[in-house]
Amino acid sequence: MSKIEVETRIGPFIKPVVLVGAMIDGQPNFMNVVWLTRLTFTPNIWGLSIGETKHTVRGIRDNKKFSINIASVDMATKTDYCGLVSGREVNKAELFDVFYGELEDVPMISECPINVECTVYQIVEFLGREVIFGEVKHLYSEEKYLTDGVLDQAKINPLLYSAPGNHYWAIGDRVGDAFSIGKSLKKP
Ligand SMILES: Cc1cc2nc3c(=O)[nH]c(=O)nc-3n(C[C@H](O)[C@H](O)[C@H](O)COP(=O)(O)O)c2cc1C
Repeated sequence: MSKIEVETRIGPFIKPVVLVGAMIDGQPNFMNVVWLTRLTFTPNIWGLSIGETKHTVRGIRDNKKFSINIASVDMATKTDYCGLVSGREVNKAELFDVFYGELEDVPMISECPINVECTVYQIVEFLGREVIFGEVKHLYSEEKYLTDGVLDQAKINPLLYSAPGNHYWAIGDRVGDAFSIGKSLKKP
């Protein structure tokens, strides 16, 4: 066997980078989050792990709603900045064109190709973090990010984060069709 043991603390996952938006004391704020995943189909729940001291957490707790804005590669510098500084000290919202949707006081970023409005389904305090279960209520995009009516990752060009090395990446080529190419190995 040629396997070697590698550091476990830095997860090997590659994740899309999102900007989580919330209103805090009437002001929009955004923070960089990569610890995010979809959890269920119906209701459509997405889970986020956010440090309990983050400014954004207060807005999510107070308003019981927030946004998830998927960043694209061309937003890498501004997105990284939102993960380096706190809304307690600086106004990060002034970096972006901020808009509001159906849930009204949930700030979203026009420059992001995908914007999701969530209500809080549940919050679990866990080892110094707030694990936030958000129920997706509305998802917004633009015609230019669709091909034949379907969101197209090549057009969205999402910003990805890799913990090993602390690097941002872009997606590569489409490899095949999910729930499909494996069928060729099914026994008749
Ligand atoms: C690449 C990257 C990913 C991050 N992912 C998370 C995350 O998943 N959860 C979290 O709590 N903080 C994460 N952070 C840190 C917060 O974005 C950062 O502490 C931010 O300044 C908090 O802003 P706020 O105080 O305005 O809420 C990340 C930062 C970077 C640069």
